[in-house]
Amino acid sequence: MKVLAIYGSPRKNGNTAQMLDAAISEFPSEAEIKKVYLGDLQFSGCCATRDCKTLGYCIVEDDLQQVLKDMMWAEIIIFGSPTQFSDVSSELKMLMERTWWMKGKFKNKIGGYVITGRRYIESTINTLHAFILRHKMILGGSGALGYTFTEMGGLENDPLAIRDAHNTGKRLLELYEIVYKH
Ligand SMILES: Cc1cc2nc3c(=O)[nH]c(=O)nc-3n(C[C@H](O)[C@H](O)[C@H](O)COP(=O)(O)O)c2cc1C
Repeated sequence: MKVLAIYGSPRKNGNTAQMLDAAISEFPSEAEIKKVYLGDLQFSGCCATRDCKTLGYCIVEDDLQQVLKDMMWAEIIIFGSPTQFSDVSSELKMLMERTWWMKGKFKNKIGGYVITGRRYIESTINTLHAFILRHKMILGGSGALGYTFTEMGGLENDPLAIRDAHNTGKRLLELYEIVYKH
């Protein structure tokens, strides 16, 4: 089992990371788990030259090239994103743009997510769903939301957050058994 966990918050040990850590803790010890912290990397969004459409690869040479390879490698991709100005983090959105040329390449990989935030979270969910479905991945999970009561607040006021994150991991594992072991 090859799992890629993409930590989309600029805060490496923040609320979103706690949720994602809980979700991936559900995977068995023999699972190969790669963790990518987007906040540690140097990269940009799509340069919109459309060269990828003819060349079949992304021409932007930066740290995301390895992440794109990791996404190809993975059987399960799980994203974590805070809600930032009513959507996924800009880091995660840049990564999403950079996969424009890869449509079809993630087909039947299992995709899930955990998010944090407290209001205007609809677009965060929608962006993640759209990404996973447009790539023809299999959307799984439990809709895990870590409800953060204050701007910088932790998850301690939301007793269901970590439970739901675990449920997301469990559900992705179930889907893996169905898709890859049957
Ligand atoms: C730039 C920025 C914009 C934010 N916008 C929203 C928002 O629109 N809705 C919301 O509920 N929380 C918003 N937040 C709060 C974060 O979603 C929340 O604190 C989150 O849990 C942070 O996750 P992290 O600890 O993993 O970074 C924003 C935070 C930042 C830094």
